[in-house]
Amino acid sequence: MERNHAIGVLDSGVGGLTVARELFRQLPEERIVYFGDTARMPYGPRPHGEVRSFVRQIIRFLETQDVKMIIVACNSATAAGLPYYQAEFDLPIIGVIEPGVRAAGRHTRNKRVGVIGTAGTITSRAYDEALHRLDPAVTVISQACPLFVLIVENELSETPETLRVAEEYLRPMQQADIDSLILGCTHYPLLSGVLSKVLGPGVRLISSAEETACEAKEVLRQLDLERKGTGAEARHRYFVSGPPAPFAAVGGKLLSQPVEAYQVVWP
Ligand code: DGL
Repeated sequence: MERNHAIGVLDSGVGGLTVARELFRQLPEERIVYFGDTARMPYGPRPHGEVRSFVRQIIRFLETQDVKMIIVACNSATAAGLPYYQAEFDLPIIGVIEPGVRAAGRHTRNKRVGVIGTAGTITSRAYDEALHRLDPAVTVISQACPLFVLIVENELSETPETLRVAEEYLRPMQQADIDSLILGCTHYPLLSGVLSKVLGPGVRLISSAEETACEAKEVLRQLDLERKGTGAEARHRYFVSGPPAPFAAVGGKLLSQPVEAYQVVWP
């Protein structure tokens, strides 16, 4: 594997860009090749077997783009089968669930942790199991929030309707007196404003992006695959399976840099 190769990052849409943004901050030398499977988004309501077959197809595509590791920057795809991808492919592959769980374990004081995610992630119970492996005394309160991904993809985060939807979804969390909320979907950090407005300052929002980037850095260091300062600016590449323009618009705002996206049409 070549240290100058890129890091492959995948998601169903723009959500994984929250992880990409953190990679740019923590690993400024690295290049990424991003894949947003926007034509088949959302993954959340799909059966796990179907999501796994999509992820395999994307990883095979990313392999053609010379990547040295893969970040499954999608909770639904991680929950659907990270161990399968790790067993089937030769390159290092990490997901976003374990990193978020570790961060929650560090932050919670009252051991009452909320988890929000897509239907696929919540029904997989991947967060419950990982939190209990870390600390069996943690009480986990989880809630699927299927509308959030569509709200983010359609740039509706700031609307009064979104506030009402968030109040509805988060009521059980408030009643259960959580002190930390894991944003168990990479799209959700883009709703942090409305989520903190509903939950107030007593609840810490935990996004796995920061911790996932730390893990990526550690994996590259251990495998001696870090890209060393070449002097050349890191050039990132973005691929989508749907129309590139909406992705480029949201992505450009989110990353505060121009995003040029190319469409890959699945056979
Ligand atoms: N951003 C994704 C996640 O982290 C998936 C959203 C979806 O496609 O349903 O779960």
